[in-house]
Amino acid sequence: MPIAYKMILKEIEDFHSWEFKQSLNIYKSSFPSNETRPVEKVVKMLGEDKDYHLLTATDNNAVVGISLLYAFRSLHIGLLDYMAVHPKYQRRGIGKKLFGFTVQKLRSQIPLAIGLIMEIQKENVPEPYERVIRKDRIRFYRGLGAKLLDGVNYLLPSQNRGKPEEMYLMIVPLTEMHSIPKRSIIRFVDALYSTIYQYENKDLLNAVFHDLPTTIIVRDMVI
Ligand SMILES: CC(C)(COP(=O)(O)OP(=O)(O)OC[C@H]1O[C@@H](n2cnc3c(N)ncnc32)[C@H](O)[C@@H]1OP(=O)(O)O)[C@@H](O)C(=O)NCCC(=O)NCCS
Repeated sequence: MPIAYKMILKEIEDFHSWEFKQSLNIYKSSFPSNETRPVEKVVKMLGEDKDYHLLTATDNNAVVGISLLYAFRSLHIGLLDYMAVHPKYQRRGIGKKLFGFTVQKLRSQIPLAIGLIMEIQKENVPEPYERVIRKDRIRFYRGLGAKLLDGVNYLLPSQNRGKPEEMYLMIVPLTEMHSIPKRSIIRFVDALYSTIYQYENKDLLNAVFHDLPTTIIVRDMVI
């Protein structure tokens, strides 16, 4: 007989709750610390910025998945800052449901949102195992409708004073979209750097700007 399975999707607003504690554990355990922002910064931002949201999937009193959404209201766009499902619960459709819930939340915050963007690690790393993980992650997002912002050489500010990392910028369009003008991309990237990373030096923004085509094509990712 199948096990009774009741998954609840909700936003966490009580930062003293057990759900919040478990969410932070998922955040801390699913990526190496040099690839994520320190958890203290995330907690501070959740407390101070109403446009930053923590969403969870809970199963039988355990948080099994989280997503972090930032709603850039004036830009009509959202950032999927982070998403993870507990390893024991992966490949059961939880990530897909949580992603749908995140998009729903974005639409409720910004009714005319044009899309949800995400920073995705490139797959071109030497270690075969890591390469497979990265390719699978891209496939996961592609399956959810994410497209590549072609020609954007996005640079992620380093978390440990190292070199910035070259990443893909992807978008799940929420309106019909074939291309985006350069100036819009620069506004998004500027907002990401200043709001999410508090990175005020303009060197990375200038480097991204320098490489950008005038029009950025939104296209299917081939991998
Ligand atoms: C990426 C992640 C969130 C996916 O969550 P999940 O609950 O396992 O995904 P789902 O079960 O909802 O899968 C949805 C679809 O993606 C596919 N998919 C999920 N993981 C996949 C993988 N590793 N390889 C290939 N396809 C995958 C599923 O087959 C499914 O497709 P279907 O609807 O056609 O059946 C999860 O693997 C994870 O937490 N990984 C570690 C952290 C991470 O990489 N986060 C993302 C970057 S912020």
